[in-house]
Amino acid sequence: MCGIVGYIGPRRSTDVLLDGLSKLEYRGYDSAGIALAGPGGEIQVVKAEGRLSVLAEKVHAMPPVDSHCGIGHTRWATHGAPSDVNSHPHSSARISLVHNGIIENYAQLKEHLMEHGYEFCSDTDTEVLVKLLDYNYHGEPLDAIMKTMGEVRGSYGLAILFRDFPDRIFSVRKESPLIVGYGQGENFLASDIPALLKYTREYSILDEGEIAVVSREKVQIYNELGHPVQKNRLTASWDIEAAEKSGYPHFMLKEIHEQPTALRATIGPHVEDGLPQLGVDALTDEMLCGIRNIHIVACGTAMHAGMVGKTAIERFARVPVDVDIASEFRYRDPILSQDDLVIIISQSGETLDTLAALKLAKERGAKTLAVVNVVGSSIARAADWVIYTHAGPEIAVASTKAYSVQLAVMYLFALRLSLAKKTQPEEEIRRLTAELQRIPDQLAPLLSNCNEIKYLASQFMNSDDLFFMGRGFDYALSLEGSLKLKEISYVHSEAYAAGELKHGTISLIVNGTPVVALATQKNVYEKALSNVKEVKTRGGRVILLCKENAPVPEDVADFVVRLPEFEDIFMPMLMIVPLQLFAYYMSVLRGCDVDKPRNLAKSVTVE
Ligand code: F6R
Repeated sequence: MCGIVGYIGPRRSTDVLLDGLSKLEYRGYDSAGIALAGPGGEIQVVKAEGRLSVLAEKVHAMPPVDSHCGIGHTRWATHGAPSDVNSHPHSSARISLVHNGIIENYAQLKEHLMEHGYEFCSDTDTEVLVKLLDYNYHGEPLDAIMKTMGEVRGSYGLAILFRDFPDRIFSVRKESPLIVGYGQGENFLASDIPALLKYTREYSILDEGEIAVVSREKVQIYNELGHPVQKNRLTASWDIEAAEKSGYPHFMLKEIHEQPTALRATIGPHVEDGLPQLGVDALTDEMLCGIRNIHIVACGTAMHAGMVGKTAIERFARVPVDVDIASEFRYRDPILSQDDLVIIISQSGETLDTLAALKLAKERGAKTLAVVNVVGSSIARAADWVIYTHAGPEIAVASTKAYSVQLAVMYLFALRLSLAKKTQPEEEIRRLTAELQRIPDQLAPLLSNCNEIKYLASQFMNSDDLFFMGRGFDYALSLEGSLKLKEISYVHSEAYAAGELKHGTISLIVNGTPVVALATQKNVYEKALSNVKEVKTRGGRVILLCKENAPVPEDVADFVVRLPEFEDIFMPMLMIVPLQLFAYYMSVLRGCDVDKPRNLAKSVTVE
C-alpha cells in the first residue's frame, strides 16, 4: 500500500527520497511524489501519476534543488483516482504532507474548511487533512498536529513539512506504521524498513498517536498529549542484500528459491531435544490443554496457510478449528470465550482487517496468538503472544516464502498442542518433528525443476480460464495455487474441492479447458483420480500433480508432475513450490509485471 520516506541530513534529499521510494515500490502504488524543503523554507513539490521512473524523469528535468530535507510518497489510490493532482504531497501555502491511511470524516471537515475560505483542487481526503492542519496552525506545529488529530477520524501515518521550520520533519501515526531511522548527522523516516537499509539499520517504531520531530542531529518523540517519550532503539536483522534481487530477474523467483533457508530459520529454533516448542513461555501444557476452540483469522495467502493449519491441528491435536477471512470475522459477531484461542496470521503484521479482527478477539476475552513475519509490527505488538516466522523481507507482492514459513508454524503448533494434550504418542510426535525438519532439503529437486514447470506454463500461457482442484490438503493448496496465478498473470482462475465439481462447475469444462489437479493424499487418492477422469472425459486438458510412485492410469492426464515421496500430511509444503513456479512463469511469459501486479498492494492497510 502507500509508502512514506523522509530525509534530513547532508545528502541531496532528492537522491535519498527517490532511492527510498524505490525500495517501497513493492508495496504497490499508482503514483508518487516528493516535497523538498529549501534553505529559506520554500517547499517545492513534484508529483506524477505512474511509475517512480516518471517522477524521477520529472525531477531530473528540473533545475537542481538545494534541499537536504524532504518527504516522499508512493500512493495507492483510495479516495480519488490515480492522477498527478491526486498524488501526494498535498499542500497549503505553509504546509506540505504525505499520508498513508484514510480519513473517514473528510467530507464534513471539507465542508467546514470551505466555509472558512479554503479551496480544494484534488478529490483526496489528504488534501482535507493538510488544509485542516493549516487551519489549526498558529506558529506551533505540535499544537496544530495534536488539535488536528483530535478532529479527524480514521487511520494515518503522516510526514509533514512546515514552511516555517525548514530544518525539521514532523510525523504522526495512528493505525498506519511509521518508523524513524537514526544515522550520523542525518535521520530518516519511513513506513517500512527496506527504505532505510541502505543508510541505517538502527530504528524506532512510532506507537499509536506518537509524534516525531526529526532534525539532523536528533529525533524527539512525543506522546499524544505532547509529553516527550524515550523510545527503544531496534536493529534491523535484515541487511540490504536481503532487500535486493541478487541476480534473480524478479524478487518473486528469488523468494521462491529462498524457501529452504527461510524454513530452516523458522523451524530450527522451535525444536528442542527432538520435540516441538513454541518459544512462548505462557503457552504451558496447562494453558494449551485448556483451549476448547481455535479460530484462525487472516487474509489471502495467510488465510490459506490457516486452512492447512486447521487440518493439521484437528488431525494431530483433535481440537476444533474454524478458519475465517479477517474482513468477514470482524463483522459477523463471532462467538468467543476465554477458552478460545484466536490465531492471527500475517506476513506484514499490518493488514488492517486482520489487526481489527485481533482487537475484536481480545475485546471478547479470547486469547490471541499472532504468527507474524515483521518484528515489532502492529499485529505482533497487539497480540497476547507472538511466534515470529523468519522469512526475511518479502518484497514481491505475491507471497511465497512467507506462506511456507506460516505452514511450518502451523505444523509446529499442531504438534506441540498434540504433545500437551497427549493425543499422539510422544514417539510419533518426535518422528513427525524430524520429518518436518527434513522438508527444506526436499525442496531442492523441486526448485531445480524450473524448466519442466516453465514448459507447462508455455503450454497454458494463452488460456483465459484455468481451474484448480483437489481434496483435503490438496483443496487448500488449490486455493493458493489459483490465487497466485490470477494475481500475477491475470488469468481468470478458480479452485474447487474436487468432489464438489459435479455440483455445478463441471458444466464449465469443455474441450481444452485447462485443469490443474492436485492428488497427494493417499486416503482420497482414488477418489481424486475419479474426479480427474470426470474432467478428462469432458475434454479437460489436465496437469496432474501427484507423488513420485503414485499409480497414474494412462489417459487420465495430459501432463504429470511428480513430487518427492513424503509424509502425506506435509505434502502441502512440497506441493506449493511447483504451484508458485507455474504462476511465476505464466506471469513472465504473458509479459506481466511479476513483482508489482496491477491494483495490488503488499501490505493492505485500508479496509
Ligand atoms: C497474496 C498475498 C495476500 C496476502 C494478504 C495478507 O499473494 O500476498 O493475499 O497474503 O494480503 O497479508 P498479510 O499476510 O501481510 O497480512
